[in-house]
Amino acid sequence: MPSTDPRFPNLRVFDHALIQHKLSLLRDVSTQPEDFRALLNEIAGLMVFELSRNFPTRPRSVKTPLETCDGCMLSQPVTLAPILRAGLGMTDGILRLFPEARIGHIGIQRDERSHMPVNYYTRFPKDVANGPVLVVDPMLATGGSAVHAIDHLKRLGCRDLQMVCLVAAPEGVKKLLERHPDVPVFAAALDRELDENAYIRPGLGDAGDRIFGTVGA
Ligand code: PRP
Ligand code: URA
Repeated sequence: MPSTDPRFPNLRVFDHALIQHKLSLLRDVSTQPEDFRALLNEIAGLMVFELSRNFPTRPRSVKTPLETCDGCMLSQPVTLAPILRAGLGMTDGILRLFPEARIGHIGIQRDERSHMPVNYYTRFPKDVANGPVLVVDPMLATGGSAVHAIDHLKRLGCRDLQMVCLVAAPEGVKKLLERHPDVPVFAAALDRELDENAYIRPGLGDAGDRIFGTVGA
């Protein structure tokens, strides 16, 4: 089971040995985009496998080759809401578990100087509020991007929201707790702090650049 932190009742950290093994490989500066993408998707799948354990189901009887038995099916559609760009790096790993999931996109880029979120694109299914919505982004730094995305989804009527990130900074978890205490945050690591450029330390650098091979561009 994921671990908790007394400072942040909204946070669950996956301390599973396999997730931590893959996260350490991902953090390594020598890991190239091909492996970075594979590891990120694998971790995302492992995290979502665990956090979806109580998703709503409905009973369904199943005819096996021998007899009929009681089964169950997920009862509501699942929607993924990756925050562009870097959230896309976790989407395939989650889709392997939920191939029927809908995907809504929200494009947000941090302003380099103010670190405030700038929203440049949004597109969600009409009935996005029907069923659980997983907001997906590897990095929760100041929390500005996540708060902005969740504000938007709540305006669309979503109530069953969960934030899935890879590395979280205490500052970002605190901001989400203040602004959206009803939204649980799932992470593979709670790192030490933000630096003067609002980068997570120790972190893994710029996730979008490492996924898409644009470091230094
Ligand atoms: C990164 C990251 C988050 C955001 C986190 O995206 O993927 O979306 O920063 O920072 P915050 O918590 O301080 O808002 P970035 O703005 O670099 O855009 P990109 O994904 O297009 O690279
Ligand atoms: N965005 C990133 O990609 N990395 C950070 O450390 C902070 C924001």
